[in-house]
Amino acid sequence: MDDSFLLIDMNNANLENFSKIKDYYIYLCHLFTLHHEFSSKDYILFNYHDLFQTPLQPLRDNLQSQTYECFEEDLIKYDLYQKAIEKALNNFKTKGKLSLAASQSNMIIEDKRDISKSNTNKRILNAYVLGAGRGPLARRLINAAIDSGFLIGEDIYITCVEKNRNAFNSLLYLQLCEPELFLKVKMLNADMRDFKPDQKVDIVISELLGSFGDNELSPECLIGIQNYLNEDSIMIPHSYTSFIRPVSCPVVWSGVKYILIFIKIKKVDNNYQSPYVILLNKAYYPIEKVEECFSFVHPVKNKDLNQIKSIHFKFDKESIIHGFAGYFKTNLYDDVEISIVPDSHTPTMMSWFPMYFPSIVRNHLFIIL
Ligand SMILES: C[S@@+](CC[C@H](N)C(=O)[O-])C[C@H]1O[C@@H](n2cnc3c(N)ncnc32)[C@H](O)[C@@H]1O
Repeated sequence: MDDSFLLIDMNNANLENFSKIKDYYIYLCHLFTLHHEFSSKDYILFNYHDLFQTPLQPLRDNLQSQTYECFEEDLIKYDLYQKAIEKALNNFKTKGKLSLAASQSNMIIEDKRDISKSNTNKRILNAYVLGAGRGPLARRLINAAIDSGFLIGEDIYITCVEKNRNAFNSLLYLQLCEPELFLKVKMLNADMRDFKPDQKVDIVISELLGSFGDNELSPECLIGIQNYLNEDSIMIPHSYTSFIRPVSCPVVWSGVKYILIFIKIKKVDNNYQSPYVILLNKAYYPIEKVEECFSFVHPVKNKDLNQIKSIHFKFDKESIIHGFAGYFKTNLYDDVEISIVPDSHTPTMMSWFPMYFPSIVRNHLFIIL
């Protein structure tokens, strides 16, 4: 037999029963055909099942180069950003009174950042990548601009702002290694909250989102730039919303205690009052539907960014709840979205795992109908 296993019925191992083994074998082969084939992504994700990760805080901490490297591998995220940027640029082309130099001649690009030298009647777009990291969003902006017929430094000025000095060095290195793409891009090592652009801003591109949407302080970081927007300026992402649902996950919940031992916090309760990023696997959701939690639309209208939400969950079965699972969805621009909400998860995207908010120690919620 061409197989990887052999079934033997030890109680009745005589010749007659070998024909039965064949039946078992055929049935097992059938079961294997029903199992979906593992992709390389499944193998990567397997290692993250129920693994606790502390949510990143890129505003407070400078991220390591390998963290940026992980981000940059998630191509689908950047593909969608590029699509959104292209749509935004095309919006300016149709409504923004642009006359693109690229469509007029094959002229050699000069840097016309010196405004006194440039033609004042011509609208030149000012695009900012805020929190540029090592440059993947700037690269996608450049690709989108070139594909949409813009000349960099002529029809569009691009500026990258990054506060992490190490990541900023990588941006400078891009200018050395790929001058044809990045030499015309202005690189600034600054905190975007203090940053005052010298001209009005047309497009703001950022990716400051966490597993629960705003938990990496995207609204707080971006609010300052709003003072420099034109009437038709576009911010990408345009909006984001977090979602939540109760989860029953005894193994994961117990695991929260062990983080205590690992990081030597004295009070167990503190451990249970912190969210974790976890690819929840040993988990059961008594309510499938997620409920909307916090939403932000850019530019934000209300400068007070605090939000409180009361959510009612309707249970139709008895359950024990060990906390809540959190997700987010973002509208980048127009109809381009990125989501980690289970029923609309962006295919193959791995940049964000769900957020887990454990219920407080010794206080599971028993739902009794
Ligand atoms: C989630 S990372 C994304 C980086 C990059 N856009 C990418 O896709 O790889 C967020 C970046 O924003 C930067 N950042 C966060 N807050 C910032 C601030 N207030 N001013 C400037 N950069 C900031 C971080 O250092 C980090 O590089």
